[in-house]
Amino acid sequence: MTEISLASSLPTSSREALLIGLLSEEDTPVIFASDELPRKAGATLASLAGAVGATGSAGEVLRAPGTELGYEVVVFVGLGKTPTLEGLRRAAGAATRALKGIETLHVALPAAHAEAVGALAEGLALGSYRFERYKAQKPAVASAVVVTAAARSAEAQAALERAAVLTEAVNAARELVNTPANDLYPETFADHARTVGKAAGLTVTVLDEKQLAAGGYGGLLGVGCGSPRPPRLVKVEYRPRGAKRHIALVGKGITFDTGGLSLKPPLAMETMKTDMAGAAAVLHTAVAAAQLKLPVRVTAWLALAENMPSGTATRPSDIITIRGGKTIEVLNTDAEGRLVLADALVAAGEEDPDAIIDIATLTGAQIIALGNRVGAVMGEDGTRSDVVAAAESSGEEFWPMPLPEQLLDSFKTPIADLKNKGSREGGMLGAGLFLQQFAADRAWAHLDIAGPSWTDKAWGYTPAGGTGVGVRTMLAYLENVED
Ligand code: BES
Ligand code: MN
Ligand code: ZN
Repeated sequence: MTEISLASSLPTSSREALLIGLLSEEDTPVIFASDELPRKAGATLASLAGAVGATGSAGEVLRAPGTELGYEVVVFVGLGKTPTLEGLRRAAGAATRALKGIETLHVALPAAHAEAVGALAEGLALGSYRFERYKAQKPAVASAVVVTAAARSAEAQAALERAAVLTEAVNAARELVNTPANDLYPETFADHARTVGKAAGLTVTVLDEKQLAAGGYGGLLGVGCGSPRPPRLVKVEYRPRGAKRHIALVGKGITFDTGGLSLKPPLAMETMKTDMAGAAAVLHTAVAAAQLKLPVRVTAWLALAENMPSGTATRPSDIITIRGGKTIEVLNTDAEGRLVLADALVAAGEEDPDAIIDIATLTGAQIIALGNRVGAVMGEDGTRSDVVAAAESSGEEFWPMPLPEQLLDSFKTPIADLKNKGSREGGMLGAGLFLQQFAADRAWAHLDIAGPSWTDKAWGYTPAGGTGVGVRTMLAYLENVED
């Protein structure tokens, strides 16, 4: 974890590394740096940037010897053509992702306002995440000092503290996604939720397989019954005194998705430890909401199961009963996310929350539609636009998608209320319509993060592996809830 602090001027000693921004322009890049730098440093920086061949293109990180400025090293990071808050985030993160073995990094990108301070702090902390559970990685940046005229302002300090909570939540969600299914399965995931929930002062309730059977949770049981590691439904409650609004967050938590008897081919299975990214995101969003003392009641539901093929697994054509009584003919055991979510959506609805947000690595069709970096939001219009607005302000990309009613026809079967597989065309939207049947007529949005939950290639402030996507959007959504 990179410790981040603010300072109103550059230090006179311990001058190890200085981080400077560059904007790309026609011929030579333009220095994009804090006003707190001595004016005469400009010419030196420009010649250093030229000497290392910097272009200022987004994501570029280059090192130059800094002796002329009294630093061991000057690090140049490119922001592309126009500076934005997200550009600051990405540049700061690209730097901490690339740098190794730095004790103190002095960050001299422009951050005159609290918003920019927050963006820099977020980028620095997100880019410094390393997955070290199984192998130590080279130490990154131990501490970063953001040099800004706003160092003493209460707003900047608050932005820094919010960034610390938020990035800790994102990095914790990444850690869960990166942890493979031999160590993270429904029981151990539930144990983790209990531990981190309690530490944040939340109430955590775990339903085991017996309680799920007694409660009629046929979706979780039908998906989980092929695995010797039984399913769990975890409820994490944050109930601040005086809160008028109640938001339910529901996460898909398939700790591994083999497809079940409708087995996935080997390549498609390789990254399926990511199939619990929704549950990881709702858990750590609730934890962050509590740490930030948001004035809104939050209930996170983690629908945890392992989807395995075996002699006890659900067969294609089996009919299961979701909590609340709807029957489903399971024709493809690889369309399992919608089954566990159906149970959890019904359970969440029983408490009559003001809105329900569900988040899931639900369909391969999501990746076909929007690629690897952009998530999809479906649902009731008002909640959907609130989520899109929250995403935009947080730096995550979520795009609104429709729920064309006619696609629901393809889920009809003569012998049950629904089948779990609809038409291939519009596969992401069909899955959304399926879930809508269990959200009843509530204010509800469904986030499909199949693409953006995972990245093979590192970029900006996102290291390779689990991305923790959704945490920042849901937290911004909760911050915007009005009494
Ligand atoms: N977990 C997958 C979706 C997925 C695919 C997530 C790629 C992340 C990356 C989901 O359970 C699944 O297998 N969906 C099927 C549904 C189909 C059988 C109707 C799909 O999209 O192929
Ligand atoms: Mn599947
Ligand atoms: Zn799945």
